[in-house]
Amino acid sequence: MRILGIESSCDETGLAILEWRADGSVELRAEVLSSQVSLHQKYGGVVPELASREHLRSLPLLCEEVFTLAGLSLQDIDAVGVTVGPGLKGCLLIGVTFAQGLCAASGAPLVPVNHIEGHVLSAELHFGEHGISRDGRKPLAPPYIALIVSGGHTEIVVVKGIGEYELLARTMDDAAGEAFDKSAFLLGYPYPGGAQLAKLADDGESSKRFRLPRVSREIEGFSFSGLKTAVALMVERNRQLLETDADAKREMAWAIQDAILDPLVVKTAREVHQRKLPLVVCGGVSANKELRRRLESLCADVYVPSMRHCVDNGAMIGYVAGRYLNSAAAPPRLGIRSRWPLESLRAHG
Ligand code: KG4
Ligand code: ZN
Repeated sequence: MRILGIESSCDETGLAILEWRADGSVELRAEVLSSQVSLHQKYGGVVPELASREHLRSLPLLCEEVFTLAGLSLQDIDAVGVTVGPGLKGCLLIGVTFAQGLCAASGAPLVPVNHIEGHVLSAELHFGEHGISRDGRKPLAPPYIALIVSGGHTEIVVVKGIGEYELLARTMDDAAGEAFDKSAFLLGYPYPGGAQLAKLADDGESSKRFRLPRVSREIEGFSFSGLKTAVALMVERNRQLLETDADAKREMAWAIQDAILDPLVVKTAREVHQRKLPLVVCGGVSANKELRRRLESLCADVYVPSMRHCVDNGAMIGYVAGRYLNSAAAPPRLGIRSRWPLESLRAHG
């Protein structure tokens, strides 16, 4: 069975073709990705209307490219998986309409996919029983805990099976990636500056000069919006110092990174220990070295998909579609949902 996966929920257009073999193994035949970062950079964040138009422009081009790379044609595809939510409405609409066009032309069925389920299952795409990067460890299979940390989402869930998620914690306001990006912007790095802030922090060290309030480890869920104000004040008070003292800038970056990572690590490790389950870390912020280092030092069994599948991509969407088609679970119903919590999947489709 061959599946085309399409992702267009935010500022990345991703397409991939996956093939399921008779023995259950999966091959990633081809994948392509186009990032819109440079388009949105001057606005300091994603501009939804521009993002939609860019998806519209790049989808046909990338589609042609992914089929060429795979050496296949539309008639070779057995199903099309497409992100229907959560995400920016206009962007989702472009992706879904494009997918519907391909289905109408080929007769292949459309499989609606939840974007966050894509992030979570990207770990099984790599480390599951028939995963593409098995590394000698025990194959990853539910139940496990997933920490999802991206520019738009921050949550901890228990993965019980396909479509079955129990929410343990979620952010009440900003996502962890957003906290990285907004803090980086205040330090003078263009959107999305999360990775640059992390790089600066990795060269810095803990210092008594800069202290940020810690979001209580005891509150339910996460909250990062207050941190943004605290960072803005800290930057303002130290503006001159930051211009003249490179060490001060690195130390400040360290303090910001620490304030974002601390609640993520503490709460995730607590759940992993209580439930004695393996841990998956996914979403763009899972690229953060310090986050991985802290979680790996506290938890025995940590699985992180390869970097290209931590960020938004088409392979994770095609994989989720294939998992539904290869199981008894009914895929979600069609409909664009800008908000669509993971834990509501099984109950409400
Ligand atoms: O999953 P993703 O590509 O897109 C969303 O679905 O949001 O995540 C992008 C986020 C951005 O906020 C980016 O700054 C952040 O991931 N990010 C990082 C690092 N690399 C990417 N944050 C912290 N440290 C990094 N090394
Ligand atoms: Zn994402």
